[in-house]
Amino acid sequence: MSNATELIHSIPVDPLTGAISVPIYQTSTYVQDAPGVNKGYDYARSNNPTRGTLETIIAQLEKGSVGIAFGSGLAAIDAVVKLLKSGDEILAVDDIYGGAFRLFTRIYEKFGITVNYVDTTDVANVFNAITPNTKLIWLETPTNPTLKVSDIEAIAKIAKANACLLCVDNTFASPALQQPLTLGADLVIHSATKYLGGHSDLIAGLVVAKEKELGEKIKFIQNASGAILSPFDSWLVIRGIETLHLRVQQHCRNAQVVAEYLETNPAVDRVFYPGLKTHFNHHIAKKQSKGFGGIVSFTLKNDTEKAATAFVTGTRYFKLAESLGGVKSLLCHPAQMTHKSIPAEKRRAAGVADSLIRLSVGLEEAADLVADLEQAFLKLKIEKENFELTLSAVKNPDSGLVDSSYNCRQGFQSRRGSRILL
Ligand SMILES: Cc1ncc(COP(=O)(O)O)c(C=O)c1O
Repeated sequence: MSNATELIHSIPVDPLTGAISVPIYQTSTYVQDAPGVNKGYDYARSNNPTRGTLETIIAQLEKGSVGIAFGSGLAAIDAVVKLLKSGDEILAVDDIYGGAFRLFTRIYEKFGITVNYVDTTDVANVFNAITPNTKLIWLETPTNPTLKVSDIEAIAKIAKANACLLCVDNTFASPALQQPLTLGADLVIHSATKYLGGHSDLIAGLVVAKEKELGEKIKFIQNASGAILSPFDSWLVIRGIETLHLRVQQHCRNAQVVAEYLETNPAVDRVFYPGLKTHFNHHIAKKQSKGFGGIVSFTLKNDTEKAATAFVTGTRYFKLAESLGGVKSLLCHPAQMTHKSIPAEKRRAAGVADSLIRLSVGLEEAADLVADLEQAFLKLKIEKENFELTLSAVKNPDSGLVDSSYNCRQGFQSRRGSRILL
């Protein structure tokens, strides 16, 4: 865990007024003394003091030289890809965030940038997949949503040896847990919408470059393309960062409890959480991170979208929503939500099963969250039993298992009282 004091005091006191909270400079332009003679600011797409403060803070937290704040995480990813040119290749983790997959394939492939997806949890796969045209290795670690962990340091060595850049999407870990630039990565990106913002109230993205020259290139791309973060949203991210350390600690504690509970539930097939000893790369997660994060995914033994839908609509505290990393617990069904843009076969091959459910474990009491999941599993079990009972009644109408005959509007009334539409 990064030092709380360092994190809190990375947020400066306003040098002009002494304001303890960073001022919001809500302006589009700045008055100049003469053409080109100004106080370091000329137009707010190029520079804004509130955004600039956030950029300095994130560069400091990620141990980089330059930070750049964007209007969304995807805009941050987009700016990094714009470093490439036609004919270049990206080597990307196979279980990539669906939006990044869509951007790579639907936007950049038509400009002649191709992407090769591999399982980066095995370093040998990265080594074998590099070609002379590979100019960028794209990692997420842990990944969204199967929490795959890749060895940043080992892959950084391969990138260096092959003169290509390594960019790590550090959204899931946050700099409170993991600092990829200290492990050899060249670039880090964040969907600051998630843990950095932390309160599910903004959309923002960040890029941090290890070297100044690379950072300046990204800054140029941003100014040329225009995807900046607003002053108010910059301020919200700064405010989120003030409590990042504390929040992430509690997210990790709660997620560990939830993951261990899920492992004991008979309806669950697999649990994905880097903090579990059963996790494939638990030892690497331990080596490169100070904690295992707040996201837990699992699959059901009844591996169907239908069962997953019943589960995700049956919880009380875990709210069904896209996104993650906020105070309130959320859950989602990637096959129908975040990963809908990935073809089903490709999605399954990357380990995102039809029934996979992703939990963003929030800051409620861990016991309440476990109780919420338990009651949702119970509902699922009752529904399944009723379904089986009714099915057997349909096959065997003389069994007396149903009270009345099938009615196409109301379905069967099972003896347990629930109505089932077939
Ligand atoms: C790992 C990861 N990276 C990037 C993004 C994109 O961020 P944004 O939604 O802020 O554009 C997301 C969004 O869910 C994400 O989960």
